Amino acid sequence: MLGRPRCPTFHREERDKRDVHNQDGHALLFVCRIKKVIFSACELGIFDLLTAPPCALTAQQVAVSCNASVGGTERLLDALVGMELLHVETQEDGTALYSNSEVASMYLAKGGAKSLHHVAIYRSQTGYQLWNNLADAVREGKNQYQKAFGIPPEEVFQAIYRSDKDMLKFMSLMNSCWVLDGHDVVMAFSLAGFRDIVDLGGCTGALAREMTKAYPSSSVTVFDMPAVVEMARKYFLQADDTFAFQSGDFFHDELPVADLYVLARIIHDWSEDKCVNLLKRICDVCRPGGGVLLVEATLLESRRGPVHTQLLSLNMLLQTEGRERPASQYAGLLRRSGFRDVQVCRTGKTYDAILALK
Ligand SMILES: C[S@@+](CC[C@H](N)C(=O)[O-])C[C@H]1O[C@@H](n2cnc3c(N)ncnc32)[C@H](O)[C@@H]1O
Repeated sequence: MLGRPRCPTFHREERDKRDVHNQDGHALLFVCRIKKVIFSACELGIFDLLTAPPCALTAQQVAVSCNASVGGTERLLDALVGMELLHVETQEDGTALYSNSEVASMYLAKGGAKSLHHVAIYRSQTGYQLWNNLADAVREGKNQYQKAFGIPPEEVFQAIYRSDKDMLKFMSLMNSCWVLDGHDVVMAFSLAGFRDIVDLGGCTGALAREMTKAYPSSSVTVFDMPAVVEMARKYFLQADDTFAFQSGDFFHDELPVADLYVLARIIHDWSEDKCVNLLKRICDVCRPGGGVLLVEATLLESRRGPVHTQLLSLNMLLQTEGRERPASQYAGLLRRSGFRDVQVCRTGKTYDAILALK
């Protein structure tokens, strides 16, 4: 059943450093404003509006459709043109017509082929409230749910799922991310030899869908909390999906017996003790010759990059009780929990894959 690495090691470090250092001092401090412009345009539905025919509108037309002021809309549209996310064409009568760039249509419009619209909405409406408290999070060394939402820091998923609306927003965020990296992650190793695969904490089933496409002879089950499974069935399940759902608590309930357990963005949520506890529980029920696949954004061993993973690790400080780790630390957790033959595959995308066998 041993999986075979499919992709070469790839470092994003140089590109990340270049991105940071290509900016002058002012530009560095503009970054948060740039993001807020994009987030606000997503919240107002501007990219969606410009996707629908006639696809080119005046500021006045956009303002009317978005129920917004003309002056504010015009400034937002111009800033988006400055950021090359929109195009503008001035007509003979002086009217300016705004339209989406290719990037905006692909990534920022709700129906875009690789839409990150829900990522933008989550970051704008939830992420920002937590990131506002970054200095406090660094001082206190813990997540900021108490300050941002009045929920104790110990109850990470009660805070994330504090209402049905917030649960749906978080699940939409999780769902979107695999549009970009899902295929690379499931193809990082050949998993065809694993017959029964359980995606623990599999949320909406977005990664499970990629697995069923890549490995049609395997049976895939998404295991998640009962309320999450209910929401996933109601809002995210597609007619041709072939994976199953199972409800439960992976820390306390009996885990399904399987050949492979996938934990995508799970280990980075929890303290070291909880991770080892969970991995040991998995090792106990995993069939002989089976294994576990961790999917995480790995830090370089020196922890000096990639920048976006360092930022994700700060995000974990703000939102969870976990952190991002270098691959060797994941390997250490796996070995302590009874797994062996740990292999790491850097995909060159945000998320990497780590496979270990029982
Ligand atoms: C960060 S999300 C990752 C979701 C998914 N694996 C992905 O990468 O898109 C963590 C997931 O773990 C689930 N989860 C958290 N605590 C759990 C528990 N005790 N039992 C089962 N699932 C849990 C959450 O509902 C959520 O779907």
